[in-house]
Amino acid sequence: MLLLDGKKLADELKAEIAQEVEQLKASGGKTPHLAAILVGNDGGSLTYVGHKVKSCEQVGFRSTLLHLDDSITEEFLLGEVKKLNEDKDIDGFIVQLPLPKHINPDKVIMAIDPKKDVDGFHPVNVGKVTLGLPAYVSATPLGITKILERYNIETSGKHCVVIGRSNIVGRPMSILMSGQGKTGNATVTVCHSKTKNLKEITLQADIIIAALGKPGFLTGDMVKEGAVVIDVGTTRVTDATAKNGWRLKGDANYAEVSPKCSAITPVPGGVGPMTVVSLLLNTLKAAKNEV
Ligand code: GUN
Repeated sequence: MLLLDGKKLADELKAEIAQEVEQLKASGGKTPHLAAILVGNDGGSLTYVGHKVKSCEQVGFRSTLLHLDDSITEEFLLGEVKKLNEDKDIDGFIVQLPLPKHINPDKVIMAIDPKKDVDGFHPVNVGKVTLGLPAYVSATPLGITKILERYNIETSGKHCVVIGRSNIVGRPMSILMSGQGKTGNATVTVCHSKTKNLKEITLQADIIIAALGKPGFLTGDMVKEGAVVIDVGTTRVTDATAKNGWRLKGDANYAEVSPKCSAITPVPGGVGPMTVVSLLLNTLKAAKNEV
């Protein structure tokens, strides 16, 4: 069984990005600059944004964090987005989700200039990805394609079963896997909460992408011998023995599934670390005006 080590791969990619930033700077180019807007004090969001800012430092990017109070109005936030759209020094920016309930996230995402939308959430980028045009692919799907690519996982002609149809993982992943890219050309089945006979379908899969957010959902009896499993789940489950009182648990029952797999991503240390690196890759693209 091959362990698809996202942590190790993320470190390698960061080193490659840092080297490219050095070269950019040495040849008089611009230092890539990522901005992040964080509204309120959601625990998970504070951690994620913290990782994003720290990763920028590690690769030599500039970063700007706009931490706004959760009492701000939607109008105020849209004004901040407009300022970042117009700020020539900012190459790309993100608005961390979730937003407070009184702010409509769709309206905010739509207000972001698609050329600076390094999260790849704007409909223009989603549409371009669907058409196979150059665009920002959102972080988790991009991270998964990098894992498949770097570990030479063959996708062409394979049956890929995606469990979950979210806008930020399942749906884009199914589009990328069935497209004509390097990690595409698979026959894709998208399964979701209304799917019947799920086990019958997953048993036919050469590649399973589990992205439904239910810890331990994918059990050993649902996986064919030799399948590749990409576990996107990162649910915090209570664990009194853990430092924080919780630990991350994936969508696959690792103990049951891993002995059957030819390759699997662990949780933590699989897809998770690759998402931040993907944001850096998109920001580098933005700085080089490649989208
Ligand atoms: N919240 C959880 N994941 C993400 C992400 O990838 N981008 C943003 N902006 N918010 C998130």
